[in-house]
Amino acid sequence: MRVSGKSYRTIWVANDGRSVDIIDQTRLPHRFATVSLRTLQDVAHAIKTMQVRGAPLIGAAAAYGICLAMASDASDETLDCAYGILLATRPTAINLRWALDEMRAHLRNQPREARVAAAWKRAGDIANEDVTLNASIGEHGLTILRDIAASKKGERINVLTHCNAGWLATVDWGTALAPIYKAHDAGLAIHVWVDETRPRNQGMNLTAWELGQHGVPHTVIADNVGGHLMQHDMVDIAIVGTDRTTARGDVCNKIGTYLKALAARDNDVPFYVALPSPTIDWTLNDGIKEIPIEERGGEELSHMSGRLPDGSVVEINIAPDGSAMANYAFDVTPSHLVTGLITERGVCAASAQGLRGLFPERAPKG
Ligand code: MRU
Repeated sequence: MRVSGKSYRTIWVANDGRSVDIIDQTRLPHRFATVSLRTLQDVAHAIKTMQVRGAPLIGAAAAYGICLAMASDASDETLDCAYGILLATRPTAINLRWALDEMRAHLRNQPREARVAAAWKRAGDIANEDVTLNASIGEHGLTILRDIAASKKGERINVLTHCNAGWLATVDWGTALAPIYKAHDAGLAIHVWVDETRPRNQGMNLTAWELGQHGVPHTVIADNVGGHLMQHDMVDIAIVGTDRTTARGDVCNKIGTYLKALAARDNDVPFYVALPSPTIDWTLNDGIKEIPIEERGGEELSHMSGRLPDGSVVEINIAPDGSAMANYAFDVTPSHLVTGLITERGVCAASAQGLRGLFPERAPKG
């Protein structure tokens, strides 16, 4: 995607070939800044502090973390240790484990002297594959948006999205936003309702920013507005991303997604989830019982950062002294509330049968 006329991915190998550059997402929307990651610890820190975030991007970053670890010592011990350090950075997005499993399985088969080059190659492939998968999700989602456009006879299509599942959450294109970018580029009149997504405000800070960079008309709304808009026919479709979807189609995504799905069902608004296949956890079925939900620090609730008129960025406390804070980062939307899953292979029902139909070679047997 383009920022101020220049093409960017969210992560790339630096010119020296020995480090990795990222866009520091903790500084958006106030500053566009890149950061250089030189060690395994740099990558682990970037994932933990959410300089990089979003399930597919966390996976790609972890793959590069393995490269940096191998460059310092290509032994089995270092490989296992790096795997463990990176896996512990964030618990919910399954792409993290998927990418680490891919890297470890690939490198184990290589002689030690070939591992550094093999690691860079595989991590680069993982990043490139993510771009291809998301572009394909965009095309399949575009078909759905074209149908809505046809039924609205030229009136603008209103899409509601939650959190950030745009190009910043992936290597490029995004998942939920890929169909929106494709539709906008194809000339469809599209407008996005952007949930602000408390407490970290990924909607306000990231989704609104990236849609703005691409020229997509959008409006930021407080998290509780979606139901009201749906009751007044102001939402044609909701599209969100996911951090982990189970084999039977339960969808774990940013906290608040479930409430949007309930409102969508009550108002007959189609509720779609866009995901690349590495986000499917084939080992789990019951998302509510089985997916680990990240709990983050209370300061994400009690503190907010903002820009002063002179351009400086400050953080302020908005909470009363002494109140306890609970900060659950994700929730699970049961499959029966999901209209369909938009994957790189097409759109399917959010069910074991639907997913098996698209990914027969990966679904558990029986
Ligand atoms: O905590 P984050 O910002 O890493 O969570 C990301 C999300 O929950 C997104 O909504 C997303 O859909 C998953 S990544 C495409």
